[in-house]
Amino acid sequence: MRRLILLLPFILFINCKQQPATQTGLITEKAMVVSARDEASQLASDIMQKGGNAFDAMVATELSLVVAYPFAGSVGGGGFMVYRKNNGEVGGIDYREKAPLAAHKDMYLDSLGNVIPGMSTSGGTAVGVPGTVAGVLEVHRKFGKLPLTDIINPIIDFANRGVVVTEKQAKRLEGYRDQFIEANGDGTKFAGPFRAGDTIKYPAYAKTLQKIVEEGRDGFYKGEVAQKLAAFVQENGGLITEEDLAKYEAVWRDPIVFDYKDIKIISMSPPSSGGVTINQMFKMMEPYDISKFGHNSAKTIQLFTEASRRAYADRNYFLGDPDFVDIPYNMILDDEYLQERMANFSFDKATLSSKVSHGEVEIIESAQTTHFSIVDSDGNAVSVTSTLNGGYGSKLYSEELGFFLNNEMDDFSAKPGVPNMFGLIGAEANSIAPEKRMLSSMTPTIVEKDGELYMVVGTPGGSTIITAVAQTILNVYEFNLSMQEAVNAPRFHHQWLPDLVIFEPEGFSEELKTELKSKGYIINEERTPIIGKVDAIRVLPNGKLEGGADKRGDDTAVGF
Ligand code: DON
Repeated sequence: MRRLILLLPFILFINCKQQPATQTGLITEKAMVVSARDEASQLASDIMQKGGNAFDAMVATELSLVVAYPFAGSVGGGGFMVYRKNNGEVGGIDYREKAPLAAHKDMYLDSLGNVIPGMSTSGGTAVGVPGTVAGVLEVHRKFGKLPLTDIINPIIDFANRGVVVTEKQAKRLEGYRDQFIEANGDGTKFAGPFRAGDTIKYPAYAKTLQKIVEEGRDGFYKGEVAQKLAAFVQENGGLITEEDLAKYEAVWRDPIVFDYKDIKIISMSPPSSGGVTINQMFKMMEPYDISKFGHNSAKTIQLFTEASRRAYADRNYFLGDPDFVDIPYNMILDDEYLQERMANFSFDKATLSSKVSHGEVEIIESAQTTHFSIVDSDGNAVSVTSTLNGGYGSKLYSEELGFFLNNEMDDFSAKPGVPNMFGLIGAEANSIAPEKRMLSSMTPTIVEKDGELYMVVGTPGGSTIITAVAQTILNVYEFNLSMQEAVNAPRFHHQWLPDLVIFEPEGFSEELKTELKSKGYIINEERTPIIGKVDAIRVLPNGKLEGGADKRGDDTAVGF
C-alpha cells in the first residue's frame, strides 16, 4: 500500500500523458475516410456503408481521386499502400511506376554528360510505366469484399457527372494552364479557363473504367487502352511500349516495422525510402524525453533536425529499388549504428551537413502527391500515398483515356550528385535501369499502441513527406495534440542537403528562430508556403475515430 502511495504521483503523471487532448476533428463511431477531396472521401465511405471493407474503399478512393483531384489522382502514376488488418496482420503493396524497357542510365544526359533540363520532368520522356490500376486490382483480388462492379460503377457515374472546381483548384488550374497547352496543344480540355463552381466531366475516363470493369487488369495493360497509352507516350517522345504495360506487376512487400518507446510504427519499405528513413529518425530521437522539450520548441526542432540530417544522408546513398540493389538494412537500422550517428550531436551547436557529407542543391515546395487514410467498421486500416510526381505529372493529358500521365522518372538520380526537383541528391543505388522502380519518399504509415490500432497517417510533399509524417506522429504521441491539431500544427523540414531548416511561414516565433540561428542553423522561410498536406485518423481510447484532414487543402474526413 505504501509503495502504491509513493508511486501515485508517477501513475497520475503517466495517465495524464495518456489522456488524449480534446478532439477537434470529425468524430465517427465506426468507419472513416480522410482524403484530398470531399467527393472521394464520400464515395469511399458510401462503399463501406454498403458493406465494403477498407480495401474496397481504398480502390474507390484511388480511382475517384482521378476525377476529384486530377492534380495527383494517379491512374497515370503509382503509389504504395500499407495495411493493418483487424487481427494485427500487416503488409504493404508497391504499385510504383517502373522505368520502361528501353530506359538506360544516361538517358537524360547530353553528349557532355550534363543533365538536360526538363527531360525527366515534362512530356513523354518523363513518364514511368503506370502502376495504380495493377495496384488497386491486386488489393481487391486479395482482400476485397464487394464485387468490383459495385465499387467502380459509382465512380463511372461520378466521372460522367463531373466534379465542381473549388477555389483552390481554380487557382491551380490557372497556374498550370500554359504548361497544359505547351504539353497538349491549344485544343486540350485543360486549356480552360476554369472558374470556381465550374464542372469538369471525365467521359473518357469513364470509358477507361468500363474497360477495367469488363476485362480487369488486361482492360488497362493490354488491348485498346494499352495501345492508346503507349502510342500517346511515344508521340510525345517517350519510350513506353505495349510490352512495358503488359509486363507491369504490383508487388506485395513486407513493410518496415519498428518500436519507438511504447508504440509500434509500420511504414513502407523500399522502393520507398519513407519507412527506413523514419525508422532511423525515430531511433535517433528515442533516447530523449521529447515531450518535456515542448512542441516545436528549439530543443525539439534541433533534435528532429539533426536526426533528419543524418537519416536523409543515408537515404540518398543507400536506398533504391530492392529488386536491383542490395540495401544494407542490418547496418543502417541497427540501434548501435544509429546511436553512433548521433554521437557528435550537441544541443549547443548545429552539426554541419558538410561534416555528414557534401553537396549543394535547391529544394522546391510541393504538395502534388496525395494521401488518404481509411479505417473500416471491423477495424481494418489502410494508409495509401499515390502520385503523378509533379502537379498534374508530366502535364500530358490523354484526351482519349481521360487522365494525366506521371513524370516519375525524375525521382531517379539522372546523374550522381545532381539534385532532382525535390533537391534530393541520388547515388548509384537510385540510377536508371530498364524495369527498375525509382526511389520514393512516400510514407504511408500505421501506428499501433498496446497492440491496438492507434493512428493511420501520411502526406504528399516530395522530400518533406518523411519529416511531415514523423512530426504528426510526435504531435499526437509526445505532445498530446488532437488528431486534427496534430495535422494543422506548423511544420518544419531538414533533408541533409541543402543544409537549411525550412519553416512554414506561420507559426514559429522570431525569438525561436533567433535562438536556432545563434546555434548555427541556417533558416529559410521563403521557399515553401506549406509543408505537406497530412490526412490521418486516430483511434480514440473509447474506440471512436478522430479525423485529421489538413486545413492546408480541400481535404475532408467523412465517415459514420
Ligand atoms: O515518390 C516520391 O517521393 C515523389 N514522387 C512524391 C512527389 C510528391 O510528393 C509531390 N508532391 N508533393
